[in-house]
Amino acid sequence: MRITVIGTGYLGAVHAACMAEIGHEVLGVDVDELKIAALAEGRPPFFEPGLADLLARTHAGGRLRFSTSLREAAEFGEVHFVCVGTPQRSGSFAADLSHIDAVVDGLGPHLSEPCLVVGKSTVPVGTAARLAGRVADLAPAGDAAELAWNPEFLREGTAVRDTLEPDRLVVGTGSARADAMLREVYAPMIEAGTPYLVTDLATAELVKVAANSFLATKISYVNAMAEICEATGADVTRLAEAIGLDDRIGSRFLSAGLGFGGGCLPKDIRAFLARGEELGVERSLRFLREVDEINMRCRQRTVDAARDLVGGSFLGKRIAVLGAAFKPDSDDIRDSPALNVAAVIKLQGAHITVHDEEAVDNARAAFPHLDYALEPAKACEGADAVLHLTEWRQYRELDPARLAAVTRTPRLLDARNALDLPHWRNAGWTVRALGRPAA
Ligand code: UDX
Repeated sequence: MRITVIGTGYLGAVHAACMAEIGHEVLGVDVDELKIAALAEGRPPFFEPGLADLLARTHAGGRLRFSTSLREAAEFGEVHFVCVGTPQRSGSFAADLSHIDAVVDGLGPHLSEPCLVVGKSTVPVGTAARLAGRVADLAPAGDAAELAWNPEFLREGTAVRDTLEPDRLVVGTGSARADAMLREVYAPMIEAGTPYLVTDLATAELVKVAANSFLATKISYVNAMAEICEATGADVTRLAEAIGLDDRIGSRFLSAGLGFGGGCLPKDIRAFLARGEELGVERSLRFLREVDEINMRCRQRTVDAARDLVGGSFLGKRIAVLGAAFKPDSDDIRDSPALNVAAVIKLQGAHITVHDEEAVDNARAAFPHLDYALEPAKACEGADAVLHLTEWRQYRELDPARLAAVTRTPRLLDARNALDLPHWRNAGWTVRALGRPAA
């Protein structure tokens, strides 16, 4: 099929490459000329494991091209996937729909042939129905230009695998034609046994925010338990291990620590709250306010634990921060808990040196007042404490004895509960972690 993917960020670039990988002719479109130029040369504009190989393969196969023109997109595609961002509006919890509106308004007047516009972005429930009307109004093809909703569930870091081997495909549409076209798009996945669910538009929109709200709630639940553990001398990692073995609960998304960040979970639960208020059902979602508060408290508890570790004040202290991305295997620093903590500690008088192999450029651009090091050991030179804030695999492989030798005082806060603490303790480190007793 001829497919366009409009918006080539973390979601769209991966979707475009994966659609080409399964055999479609794909045109990726974005307003950002630099991003399009990079992609056209087969260079991913961000770090995502496996994406560079995929781009190289699909380019070589001649199935993937890029453009900045919505008119070209309209003329090329039978199916148009809309993958632009819906960030949090400034000064409000609500989602900013200006990018998605601009795509529909820019594409619509050029849709003169029967086609399908498919929303993938995360939007407030009700948006799809509004956009369906807008497409039909604007398109010269009229009702033959349809709109369906097909939320994306990919995680950064495993986005390629999540797209090629999804847990499920959800399609919101009332149209047999739209359903048939999307079954054709996803034929290899459906043949491989991926569950394919057809719903109405509103349910499809809600599936995405409901799933993300559940995941956020699970993380904040375990982080609330971490607070209880801290008050009682219990160990949240053992608690999570034990409750996670109950398969009604499950062990995934039960890692306590610095909490969730990134471009999705925080803004999605807030946008859901805002939409709930508009719909007059805020009581049903009020718990998400608590989920958000527990999550933000994780950052404060990390700052407090680090301050305790260095003797009660950050003034004049040198702090090494390991990790800047919002999670490992990503260079994404949107709402990164690690950088949030680093910036707050800096404000309280510490000198901060951050290490993150992949996210360093993004971090430096957004937080130019922090210092950066290209090696973990460089970041730790002369440090009064080392904060482990993003659990890159590389940090689990560090040699604590060699690192201790370069610090001023070997003190470690593992805010991700991912390091082998006895190993660090044996190498002479004073060790703290969130939700676990200080030993
Ligand atoms: C998320 C959803 O997982 C995905 O389905 C959706 O489409 C987009 O949002 P992503 O933002 O890439 O994906 O990251 P995810 O792996 O979900 O992690 C989110 C945050 O939660 C990270 O900051 C991570 O560090 C944190 N997290 C995750 C925890 O604190 N504890 C956990 O147990 C799991």
